[in-house]
Amino acid sequence: MSNKDIINYLGSDWDRTLALIRDQLHSDVGLLEQTNRQILSNTGKMLRPMVALLMARAVGTPTGDSICFAAASELLHNATLIHDDVADGSAERRGQPTVSALLGAGTAVLLGDYWLARAVDLVVDTAHRDAVIRKFAKTLTDLAEGEMLQLEKASACDTTEADYLRIIHCKTASLFCVAAETAAVSVDAGPEQTAAALAYGSALGIAFQIKDDILDYAGTDSLGKPVGQDLLEQKITLPLLGALQGSPREAEIRAMVRDIPSHPEYCGQVRRFVTERDGVGFAARRLSEWVERAVRALDVFPDSPAREYLAGIARYNEWRQV
Ligand code: IPE
Ligand code: IPE
Ligand code: MG
Ligand code: MG
Repeated sequence: MSNKDIINYLGSDWDRTLALIRDQLHSDVGLLEQTNRQILSNTGKMLRPMVALLMARAVGTPTGDSICFAAASELLHNATLIHDDVADGSAERRGQPTVSALLGAGTAVLLGDYWLARAVDLVVDTAHRDAVIRKFAKTLTDLAEGEMLQLEKASACDTTEADYLRIIHCKTASLFCVAAETAAVSVDAGPEQTAAALAYGSALGIAFQIKDDILDYAGTDSLGKPVGQDLLEQKITLPLLGALQGSPREAEIRAMVRDIPSHPEYCGQVRRFVTERDGVGFAARRLSEWVERAVRALDVFPDSPAREYLAGIARYNEWRQV
């Protein structure tokens, strides 16, 4: 299974989604128009609209609303990335300088707001808006809460596995949840199928962020964003939490993470600790459990290529390097 197979399978639904995203982003303000074109010329994996359209097909026949919600999920995702790179002080995204590195944090915040507003605009005119607006509002709330909790935990350096799960559910899985759940709503799925879509989105999103956090320890240049960034930002993610489990050095290592801003050289020592205790192996086992949960959530849907592709997207997290 490749991206191309999925895009071919989605056919005109995919083309309509891309066209809608492009149409939402026209402005007669030169700086805005030019920056939007630049981002659109180098899109990422576009997983959220893919999940949304596949879910709509797994349940029924995609509608105009399915296309609107799929496009909104990608606009919202890009808004969060633009903002996230400001919050994380990141210089590179998709192999290119970030908006904040190129144009400054202030411009990046405004641009992220613009993409976010264009996402909301797509939802308000749909037939299912009453059922869906609150779901998108909940996702936006979760995203902000997740990023704020992450900042709070980074300065305290006391992140537990439960904190970590809450953070990644809010900052990442919430978007996969809304993409999958609103897709089900867009084709008038019943309560059992809508709940299954949400469960799939949630487990997939958690698996996706665990893999992102593994790649921050074990990724290569092909990732298109810097590796080793999480520790520099004092983020205690699953590979480090796994390494800390049962270690007599826990207090010492957490104190080192706390002191990283004034001692960046501690990063190397903490990374060695994670390698010695196979923290990445621990995270990979947890990842597999979430992948299986995502695949199992699909059991309620009838057999179809869409269901197989959704399972394939979940499993892709076990091996992806980008
Ligand atoms: C990056 O998401 C942010 C995370 C939630 C880890 P993606 O890896 O889906 O980003 P793009 O859109 O493909 O660049
Ligand atoms: C991703 O968190 C969550 C977002 C809301 C963007 P990260 O900070 O780990 O994402 P990357 O690694 O910058 O893509
Ligand atoms: Mg980041
Ligand atoms: Mg990351």
